[in-house]
Amino acid sequence: MTSAEHSFTGRGNFTEGFGLTTEPMPLEPYRSRDFFELEQKMIFRRAWLYVCRAEELPEPSNFVVKTIHGTGVSALITRTSGGRVQAFYNSCAHRGSIVVKEESGKAAKFACPYHRWTYSNEGDLVGVPDEENFFPSLDKSKCGLKKIATSEWEGWVFINLAPEPEVTLDEYLGPAKEFLSGIRYRGADNPVVFTAVLNSNWKVASDAFVESYHIPHIHKDTIGTTFASRANPFARLIGAYPLGTHRTVSMYGNPEYTIDPKNRVEALGSMGKDDKSVIAADVSEETLEFLSHPAINPEGADHWSMDIHQIFPHLHIDTGPGGFWTHQFWPVDEKTCFYEVRFYMMEAQTIQERFLQELYIGRVGEVVLEDLANLKFTQDGIDTGGQDTMQLQDSEVAIRHALAQIIKWTQAQTVKEALA
Ligand code: FES
Ligand SMILES: [Fe+2]
Repeated sequence: MTSAEHSFTGRGNFTEGFGLTTEPMPLEPYRSRDFFELEQKMIFRRAWLYVCRAEELPEPSNFVVKTIHGTGVSALITRTSGGRVQAFYNSCAHRGSIVVKEESGKAAKFACPYHRWTYSNEGDLVGVPDEENFFPSLDKSKCGLKKIATSEWEGWVFINLAPEPEVTLDEYLGPAKEFLSGIRYRGADNPVVFTAVLNSNWKVASDAFVESYHIPHIHKDTIGTTFASRANPFARLIGAYPLGTHRTVSMYGNPEYTIDPKNRVEALGSMGKDDKSVIAADVSEETLEFLSHPAINPEGADHWSMDIHQIFPHLHIDTGPGGFWTHQFWPVDEKTCFYEVRFYMMEAQTIQERFLQELYIGRVGEVVLEDLANLKFTQDGIDTGGQDTMQLQDSEVAIRHALAQIIKWTQAQTVKEALA
């Protein structure tokens, strides 16, 4: 056994450290139509919502279209000729049609597919077929694409659906901005993307990816022995940090992990690697700078596997030994959500690197499916109405904090009050 294991006490009292109650938490927010509508109004139409990385818009005229599930909004996000990132409602000023049907592309102008009104990528209406036939005249200056408030933080692009956002993105991020400032995200232009429509409330799905308590059981055949050990059989957290309305948790990694010899593919992929973790996409020199950031493995522990930085309301930025990946959970209705996970990695330079990446994606994909397969059972059980509360233990502190924040936002009259 390593000395790191010997020193693991595993009792953080994180819940009290967060200043949270240890009482049971309500299940009604996970099944109620009324609560879903309240969340839409008080959270998703007031909070800054992460929509894409800046690398998805590398040059002027690049655009992406993102569906803001639950709100009915299609957002057209462009890098304008001036180089700024700006989002618009993807709706034509003529009779309201969707203007851009593609999910992404490059265009200096957007022509509505219905009657071909044409807009610049600054949102200005610049072309109207048979303009003379609008009586008495058409004021084109009043017929641009409607802007959505847009702001960027270190490559993370956010929008705000409020007519006038009550706080700036900086104010919204608060302590999370300082904590995460300066991370050198590697491979941010090179994601592998999986999406799915899930039969669960968005919080049921999000919660499944922020607690370590389930790992030794749900993932016993995949990553169970990476995230747990004899010294820490229930994969207790090693760190948890409240960041205003956001939060970070840091997870245990088994320093004694060895590859099961019968898993020949994993053994082959790990040949010559020092780090045998299945969640490490690579361990190259450049990774060291990324890993040296104080928000990554904040405890500086040898027994570390990964961190989850939860940006309110529905983004997880996960950081691990080989890089970063994101999860997003968009509410569709009270029992359905849209899920997107993006694994970012450097372009492979050699066949071995490519093999390792394929192995990595195969392994993490398997782990994610183990989590997703469980969600419908969780939701169905909640929907029976047989339980009104959930009992949360200390490794589930992020769930408790997230739900407390969500409830707070639904009750706060102003965003400043929600953030206070
Ligand atoms: S609805 Fe767009 S041009 Fe008519
Ligand atoms: Fe899991």
